[in-house]
Amino acid sequence: MTAPTPMPIGTDLRAEIDRLRKERHAIILAHYYQKPEIQDLADFVGDSLELSRKAADTDAQVIAFCGVKFMADTAKILSPDKIVVLPDLDAGCSLEDSCPPDKFRAFRDAHPDHIALTYINCSTEVKALSDIIVTSSSAETIISQIPEDQPIIFGPDRHLGGYLSRKFGRDMLLWPGVCIVHEAFSETELLKLKAMHPGAPVAAHPECPPAIIDHADYVGSTSGILQFAKTFSGDTLIVATEPHIMHQMERALPEKRFIGAPGADGNCNCNICPYMALNTLEKLYTALRDLQPRIEIEERLRLAAKRPLDRMLEMASGTIGRGDLGPVAAD
Ligand code: 13P
Ligand code: SF4
Repeated sequence: MTAPTPMPIGTDLRAEIDRLRKERHAIILAHYYQKPEIQDLADFVGDSLELSRKAADTDAQVIAFCGVKFMADTAKILSPDKIVVLPDLDAGCSLEDSCPPDKFRAFRDAHPDHIALTYINCSTEVKALSDIIVTSSSAETIISQIPEDQPIIFGPDRHLGGYLSRKFGRDMLLWPGVCIVHEAFSETELLKLKAMHPGAPVAAHPECPPAIIDHADYVGSTSGILQFAKTFSGDTLIVATEPHIMHQMERALPEKRFIGAPGADGNCNCNICPYMALNTLEKLYTALRDLQPRIEIEERLRLAAKRPLDRMLEMASGTIGRGDLGPVAAD
């Protein structure tokens, strides 16, 4: 793909994005890990499940997805008639990279009696090989609907899988992927921080390793952590997830203090997701102007990936029957 024409010098980016959003009948969706300036002009900011629902329900003609590629792919899978643009196509995810479809297929084939419960942070091809997709906010509701004698393989995040396995007492086969961002938190530094702020609770994303989760007062998705921040009774909260989520906390609760959990060097800012950070206002502007880079998915693959996603959306709302859990993966 050719590089976009640079924007003219002196362009008022926010005004231009607003003009293009109206002209293109576009909706701007953003994840909580996006830069504050992107979150502030988005039409909707949410976690992976909320963003999927929004993408499925919108009547906009264009979805400008400010997040990472698996999220924009999900929007296209659920809304094939819309144009879906991602400001930077290189905005990937270490979990997606850890799980090549051919290896995942071999893993599935080696365990034919297991269902594949798969984290949404994966490629469209891996979704198509899965039975049910989960997000961090829907995983617990969904797993509690799967009969206890049904064996499960869970990929690609071994920490989320391990957390679910411990919480529900289920012996699941785990794919060995990790999120490089959450993997970087340091237990030693977290304990030092807790000692400096006695009584401050810790809220952690389930992508964190168990050594971090063990010190958490609350474990949940980005929107769950945000909700916890709005309801905890103290004045200081330690946040063990990507630090850009603290923008929403600081906006909603300026009187409280939010401190990012540290990495091994003790620096709170070392856990910025390098993939999410690729999106900028400039790239969002050119994406809306040129309607590029655009997400395209071959129709047979899209339909195969849509089935486990639809199943997630149904099960997350509790609308699927408990007996209706036979495999649905593509051949
Ligand atoms: P959430 O669904 O909790 O927003 O998580 C998405 C993600 O990529 C976390 O690293
Ligand atoms: Fe992927 Fe981790 Fe970045 Fe989320 S924070 S997009 S899981 S690399």
